[in-house]
Amino acid sequence: MNYMRNAWYAAAWLEEIDDKPLARTFLEEPVVLFRDTSGVLVALADRCPHRFAPLSQGKIVGDAIQCPYHGLRFDGQGSCVYNYHGPVPKAAKVPSYPLMERYGLAWIWMGNPELADEDKLPDLGSFTTDSDYAFAHGYLPVTGNYQLVVDNLLDLTHGQFLHTAFGSPDSTKFETKWEGTTVHANYRFDGEVIAPAVQPFWESESETCDRWADMRWEAPSNLYLEVGVKECGDSREGAILFPATHFLTPENGTNTHYFWMLARNRRVDDDAITQLVWQITDNAFRNEDEPMIAMVQERMAGEDFDDLKPIFLTTDRAAGRARQILKKLIDEESSGAASEQKAKSEKALASAK
Ligand code: FES
Ligand SMILES: [Fe+2]
Repeated sequence: MNYMRNAWYAAAWLEEIDDKPLARTFLEEPVVLFRDTSGVLVALADRCPHRFAPLSQGKIVGDAIQCPYHGLRFDGQGSCVYNYHGPVPKAAKVPSYPLMERYGLAWIWMGNPELADEDKLPDLGSFTTDSDYAFAHGYLPVTGNYQLVVDNLLDLTHGQFLHTAFGSPDSTKFETKWEGTTVHANYRFDGEVIAPAVQPFWESESETCDRWADMRWEAPSNLYLEVGVKECGDSREGAILFPATHFLTPENGTNTHYFWMLARNRRVDDDAITQLVWQITDNAFRNEDEPMIAMVQERMAGEDFDDLKPIFLTTDRAAGRARQILKKLIDEESSGAASEQKAKSEKALASAK
C-alpha cells in the first residue's frame, strides 16, 4: 500500500514512552520507541540486523537498546555500539527515524530524513497550552484503514445515528470548502435539544441550543474540529467551545492508530468533569465509531475503495476531496522519489565507468 511518507505522523503520547521500549508499527514498518537515559526520544526500526529479533523485546542500557537475542547494543542513531563477544561489526546499523515532540505527542517522520522539517506539522497555535481550556486525550487502535476514519470525521452526519450523546439534530446544514491542500467540512445543527455531553456545561434555562462543528483536514490525516454550543439565534461569541484534534496514523492497510484530544472552555478546573468528558469521548470512538469502521473494513473484503464504486452523496464532498488531494500528494511523492532514485543510479553508473 502507498502512503505519504514525507510527513509527520503522531506516534505516541509522550507519557507512553519511558525507559521501556514501546513497539508500534507505522506505515507497515515495525518501530521501537524509547527514551534514553538522558531523556532523548529515539525511534529505531524494530529489527536487529543480526538475526532479526525485535529490539523492542530488549532493554535500555544507558543511551542504547540491547537486543534480547545476542545482546548487540544500538544507540539513538541506530549504530551498533557494543558487542559482548567481539568487535563491533561496522555494518550493524538499524535505520533510525526523526522524531519531534509537540502537543503532548511524539511525531515520527517515515520518509526521507533530510526533508524532516518541523514546520511541516499543522500549526495549532496555543491550542494545547491555553489556560482557558481543559484537555482530555486518548488513544484508540482502529481496525480499519486510516482513510475510512478520515471519511468518518469529515462526514459528521453519522453523529445523528451513531452518537446520540453528542446531539440529535432535526436539521443539519453543511458546507464544504478547500484551499490548497486543506479541506473544511462545516456543520450546523440549529435548535437542537441539549445533548447529554453538553448538559454538564449548559447553564441557561433554554431546552434547545444551536451547535456547530467545523472540521478541518490536512494531509495526510490530521484533523482539527471546533464544536461550539450557544443559545439559539445568538452570535458565537461567548459560546461553549469544544476544540478537538484527531490525529490518525496508518499502522498498515487495515489498521490505524487514533490519537484524539478534546478541550473545553467550561469547568476547566474540575477533574471529575475531565474524567467524564474522557469517558463520553472514549466511549463514542471506541464503542460507536470503531466497531462501525471495523465492520465497513470487513465488508470491503480486501477490495480497493474506488473499485467498489461507493455511492457519492453531497455530504461526501469533503471526504472525496481529501481522498483526491492525498492521492495526488502520494503520486507526486512517489514520482519524485522514483526520479531521485533514477538520478542516483545514473550517477553511480557514470562514476563506475
Ligand atoms: S538477533 Fe540481535 S544480537 Fe542477534
Ligand atoms: Fe463519530
